[in-house]
Amino acid sequence: MNYRHAFHAGNFADVLKHAVLARILDYLGRKDAGYRVIDSHAGIGLYDLAADEALRTGEWHGGVGRIRSARLSPALREWLAPWFAALRAVNGGDDLLLYPGSPAIATALGRLQDRYHFNELHPQDAATLAALYTGDRRVRVGSEDGYVTVRAQLPPRERRGVVVIDPPFEEPGEFDRLTRAVQDAHKRFATGCLMIWYPIKDVAAVDAFLKAAAAVGYPRLVAIEQWVREVGGDGPLSGAGVLVANPPFTLADETEAILPELNRLLAEDEGAGGRVLRLAQDG
Ligand SMILES: C[S@@+](CC[C@H](N)C(=O)[O-])C[C@H]1O[C@@H](n2cnc3c(N)ncnc32)[C@H](O)[C@@H]1O
Repeated sequence: MNYRHAFHAGNFADVLKHAVLARILDYLGRKDAGYRVIDSHAGIGLYDLAADEALRTGEWHGGVGRIRSARLSPALREWLAPWFAALRAVNGGDDLLLYPGSPAIATALGRLQDRYHFNELHPQDAATLAALYTGDRRVRVGSEDGYVTVRAQLPPRERRGVVVIDPPFEEPGEFDRLTRAVQDAHKRFATGCLMIWYPIKDVAAVDAFLKAAAAVGYPRLVAIEQWVREVGGDGPLSGAGVLVANPPFTLADETEAILPELNRLLAEDEGAGGRVLRLAQDG
């Protein structure tokens, strides 16, 4: 286990992932009933952008840094509003010193009645994450294989919520494990929202995964993808996507409307692009 998210926190891929997650949470929070967030590969929760890891790569400058310093259209500003609210909440204002990972976004946007199960396999990172939530009775932190968590924690007692699966793609076979996780989540919590992050390196592998996920049977399934330079070849990550089962009803249309602008802001060269794929639509 070599992957440490601290080197990448706030990069272009985090922007799309975390902005979509924040929109899902905003949507869930519109009903008073509590919901549960199950985050199987949670990381450490909160990232210091002045820490050695962030300074060494500087990746956040090409992601959250660019977004925060750009002039945004009203439509993009509104689309990003829940994520911006989480950024402000962890920084106590408009400074950008700390970058919230998926757990901190969830708890920043959550309410007293919501519950959180965060899981992180790396023992040191799990301890850091647990320390962040000392005293917060809404939060449980586990440290096991994240795919075990998906099976063990579903369905949540609340019968509402989101499952986030954001693996590091360090070992071969991650798309196969993700496909099984989509099947597991559908079997145990078919009405719940599921969000999976994936890198776009091998386009054929991504297409095969999306096809397999579409065959599982979710009534609504959307993939949102963005690449900041032409995909292919070695070198730094060029593109990434999120697959969302049972998304908020308006997510695909709203995202399609702002994606060109988001992509222009994050582009590294003219090979940049993005797309919204409606893999299943119930009418
Ligand atoms: C991409 S990072 C997660 C980032 C986090 N979801 C966020 O958005 O802030 C992936 C994390 O998965 C952890 N990890 C690696 N293998 C795992 C496994 N089998 N089960 C659970 N976590 C694992 C890594 O230590 C790393 O912290």
